[in-house]
Amino acid sequence: MSLDHSAERAHCRRTAALTVELGHRAGAAAEPLVQAALLHHLLEPLRHSSGLGRLAWQVVCGDDARRIADIVQVCNLVDEQLEALEFEYKEVDTILDEIRSFAPFEGFDPALVEHLREMRCLEFPRDLKLPVEAAAARLVFRTLRAEREYETKELEAIALRDPVLAGSLLSVANSALYGRAQRVSTVGRAIASVGVIAARKVMLAAAMRPLFASAGLLRIWHHSLSSAPLWSALASHTGLLSPEEALVLGLVHDIGAVAVQFLPRETLTTHRRLVEGGCPAVYVERLLLGRDHGEIGAELIAEWHFPEEFIDAVRFHHQPERSASKLASLAYLAEFWSELDEDLPSFGRVEACLARIGLTLETLMQMGGQDSTLRALKSVA
Ligand SMILES: [Fe+2]
Ligand SMILES: [Fe+2]
Ligand SMILES: [Fe+2]
Repeated sequence: MSLDHSAERAHCRRTAALTVELGHRAGAAAEPLVQAALLHHLLEPLRHSSGLGRLAWQVVCGDDARRIADIVQVCNLVDEQLEALEFEYKEVDTILDEIRSFAPFEGFDPALVEHLREMRCLEFPRDLKLPVEAAAARLVFRTLRAEREYETKELEAIALRDPVLAGSLLSVANSALYGRAQRVSTVGRAIASVGVIAARKVMLAAAMRPLFASAGLLRIWHHSLSSAPLWSALASHTGLLSPEEALVLGLVHDIGAVAVQFLPRETLTTHRRLVEGGCPAVYVERLLLGRDHGEIGAELIAEWHFPEEFIDAVRFHHQPERSASKLASLAYLAEFWSELDEDLPSFGRVEACLARIGLTLETLMQMGGQDSTLRALKSVA
């Protein structure tokens, strides 16, 4: 199957997922809607034809053919507009206003657009606070982000303030990676045996993990952990930031995803159904919340007093064209390489980001070797 065909199939699938949600609110049955949406590129010409073609359209869409066609049309427009955001950024409200303005010419019921607005959750708290575990994360980030040598004693003092950090150091020191006969039982010995540099990485990662665990986002956490070496490699290759800073950025880049735990139950259900229906997480966040997890995460890490360019990179890591910072491009490429498919694919963005930070696709694909210390942490997590 060609790229064009798979992109079209993905568009039809997303349109179908949207029609189910809209149909649910507009009182239309899900099954004919899904059929009509999945086949809408075939059915649309039939709908406007006469004779047998139109009859075939009515057979697929059933008794409620007109209503179904309207819902599919509105959802198709929404998907096309969300696909086009990489070329021209618009607020989702503006998109919905525009689609509503098409109603008199296209002949669909404008109330359908209002039903789409009902799906949204704009009273979602704009000044989110991280859960209590953030205290440990904040301490570790603020102390360890600095580019300087750390002594075992300093790290030990930090680790001893938080049982998660201390426990993670002991777990890694006692993991198969270090294959020692005797178990290490003190934090000081754990740091000495894995080494100060590895201990810093373990502590950074351990400080972050509870945030993702509390939000039920361990899949994203594992993605952040496993892509962290790539962030470091990209930093070394481009010289845009130190590998240590890149590791931090890699671990926090998706922290905005913890916001899902603050969603009201109904929005969470819609979110889950749309994602399961084939809509990428960023697409769903933008549609339902008006902003993606990058924008939410930027607000969260601003509390940790990160440098502005870090905050900007997190904010725009799914919309690099909206940032003047090269770090946002670096972050976008790290996401692309990790293949979690958090947003709609865009080769245009990949090409623009590669050009911006002076990399070739080949070089990017060769990067991101495994980091054994982080792998060990993952295995004991
Ligand atoms: Fe379409
Ligand atoms: Fe992301
Ligand atoms: Fe990510």
